[in-house]
Amino acid sequence: MVVAILPAAGKGERLGESLPKQFLDLKGIPLLVRTLLAFEKAPQIDGIIIATHPLYLEHTENLIKSFNLRKVLKIVEGGTTRQRSVYQAVKIAPLETEVFLVHDAVRPFVPESLIKRVIEATRSYGASVPAIPVRDTLNLVKDHLVKANVPRENLFHIQTPQGIKANLLKTCLDEAIARGLEFTDESSLLTYFGHPVYVVEGSWLNFKITFKEDLILAEKLIDCKIETL
Ligand code: CTP
Ligand code: MG
Repeated sequence: MVVAILPAAGKGERLGESLPKQFLDLKGIPLLVRTLLAFEKAPQIDGIIIATHPLYLEHTENLIKSFNLRKVLKIVEGGTTRQRSVYQAVKIAPLETEVFLVHDAVRPFVPESLIKRVIEATRSYGASVPAIPVRDTLNLVKDHLVKANVPRENLFHIQTPQGIKANLLKTCLDEAIARGLEFTDESSLLTYFGHPVYVVEGSWLNFKITFKEDLILAEKLIDCKIETL
């Protein structure tokens, strides 16, 4: 069984709206629902668990009902960090879960081909993430001055969904929480504990809606009907 975990308990502070970004309307459909629909449509996904902020539990439940999202198994209360939100979901996942796919609730344009690629690599290697190579020159800048160049050959932007065999994610999260360690994604968590994470090709359109301009870009992409690459 493949279970998608959607951490959706953040506040969206960098976007700066009073409503957390995952609930903002994106051309008639809330952002969270657009992301959920990508997983609803993917035949490889058996179930979905959402971690939401306690204040938005009822709101999230109402969205699932009104958009008739059938794969959602459970909505749990998230934690104070993304890692804690993911942990809440992992703890209540069905025992039959073999693979978890952790996907930011604010990346609505994830292509189905990418979901498939990550699942296949996770089954072979234990864990897998999509990534895209850094395009721009990377420099160290301090006080408005360029101090040094950072060679970018081996630098990648890591995206989600991040696939991990279920027992591996549980074990690593238990250990990290027990030791008070905090990671911004699962690939960093697994790497810290010495587990290999296989990198597959990501997509430039699978961007995370973080700032206001990302929301404007997302609306334009929906207008163009170029939803995924
Ligand atoms: N997330 C979560 N629980 C938290 C913090 C973040 O479930 N305590 C989720 C967000 O809802 C989002 C994903 O993790 O789907 C990626 O986080 P990010 O883009 O940083 O979202 P926010 O934390 O909401 O935004 P910001 O950092 O700007 O406040
Ligand atoms: Mg955040």
